Amino acid sequence: MALKGKISDYQEFVAELNANLDEWLKTPRGEWEAFAVKSVNGLASEEVRRLVSLDNRRQNGIFFTDSKLANRVLRGLQPVFTKQSKIYDPACGAGNLLISVADYLRSESQMLMNEGSFMGTDIHKPFLEAARLRFLINELLFSPDCKSDFMLKKDARFVVKQCDGLFHNEFYQKATHIFTNPPFNLVQTKEKLDWSQGQVSAAALFMDKIVQYVNTGTSIYAILPDVLRSGTRYEKWRRHITKQCVVERIELLGQFDKYADVDVFSIHLTKKSRQFKVGKSTFEKAKINTDAKVVEDTFNVCVGPVVDNRDEKIGPVRNFVVSKGLEGWTTQTRFNLLRSHSGKSFKSPFIVIKRTSRMGDAQRAIATIINSKRNVYVDNHLIVLQPKSGTLNDCKKMLENLKKIETDNWINNKIRCRHLTVKVVAKIPIWP
Ligand SMILES: C[S@@+](CC[C@H](N)C(=O)[O-])C[C@H]1O[C@@H](n2cnc3c(N)ncnc32)[C@H](O)[C@@H]1O
Repeated sequence: MALKGKISDYQEFVAELNANLDEWLKTPRGEWEAFAVKSVNGLASEEVRRLVSLDNRRQNGIFFTDSKLANRVLRGLQPVFTKQSKIYDPACGAGNLLISVADYLRSESQMLMNEGSFMGTDIHKPFLEAARLRFLINELLFSPDCKSDFMLKKDARFVVKQCDGLFHNEFYQKATHIFTNPPFNLVQTKEKLDWSQGQVSAAALFMDKIVQYVNTGTSIYAILPDVLRSGTRYEKWRRHITKQCVVERIELLGQFDKYADVDVFSIHLTKKSRQFKVGKSTFEKAKINTDAKVVEDTFNVCVGPVVDNRDEKIGPVRNFVVSKGLEGWTTQTRFNLLRSHSGKSFKSPFIVIKRTSRMGDAQRAIATIINSKRNVYVDNHLIVLQPKSGTLNDCKKMLENLKKIETDNWINNKIRCRHLTVKVVAKIPIWP
């Protein structure tokens, strides 16, 4: 039997995405939504850890960006787009950064609709295929009424190509914005670089090439290992980059994620023309950004897992919370319904929000705190918000936030249909 753990084994996940998409196009949204949300969030990274060995991931710098980190970078660096923007990730993996940019644009009530508005390349084909399908699934989540457009499984707005991002390709010339989390592994280079020789960080090499290939005026947003930002090892690299780019902003991000113990930072650069002389724009003097807060920073958000008329009544019997009859803006400690279920139950305290509300309703995100001594099952007409702190106090503060008129206005601007989605609820701002 062939050894598991090769990069090509990621094809298993691609086949699953393909089969799921076929299935979802034929079935009601309620049956696939939760899994589709997972497919465009953490599942691509979970699958790369399951299918590709750690050695292989390390050697090839395969650590996909968590959507929370990507969102934090976007909120911190606040990229500005126009309708003509073209966004390119030269080492796009399974598309996490590009999907987050698409979501960010949507949260700003914009979306790029031109052919090739999003472009991705990667050296490994299975990742590209996953990126293409996940981008499509994400679009399907936001456009439930446009199923027929997805039947062809092609979205002309997102083009992908297998190639080595360290060499020039046509996407570099087309791009107005680069988003990248390049590989961080060490590579041996025979090339004579201005800033180093021999073994160097692949991330430093990638940035060198990106800056060389893009047009003047291109915005470059990157997540990079902290070793490039300070210290003597990459001092010459920093000088090399700042000769060609203005350093607009830097944000320190801490550890990449719980699987990759590397401190990282994000940076926004603008490629300048040779003649363009700016004062001292250096890594050291760049503005350090602060972080704005949204619901998902302090709460885990998901759809209630129980599909009452479909799921079998097997498993432990517990209290069961449904949307019908649930009183908003209260704390519920007693429950009328009991049910068996074999899936996830929730530990109190937590918040549930009714998924259906109407434009113009006095309150769009009608929320109730659930505070039960025992675990509770939640129906899938509700969205669950679990406080990361586990405290009732955080639930109460969140209820006040959701009740504010600012939340209603914000939701009304984001979605026109009656249904709230996990993605929108997760991005509700915490008002000052
Ligand atoms: C750190 S991961 C980031 C992936 C994606 N940008 C994200 O944020 O999730 C780096 C990616 O670079 C790819 N890669 C490594 N060397 C490459 C090269 N020379 N050209 C293009 N892609 C490369 C890997 O396959 C991997 O998918």
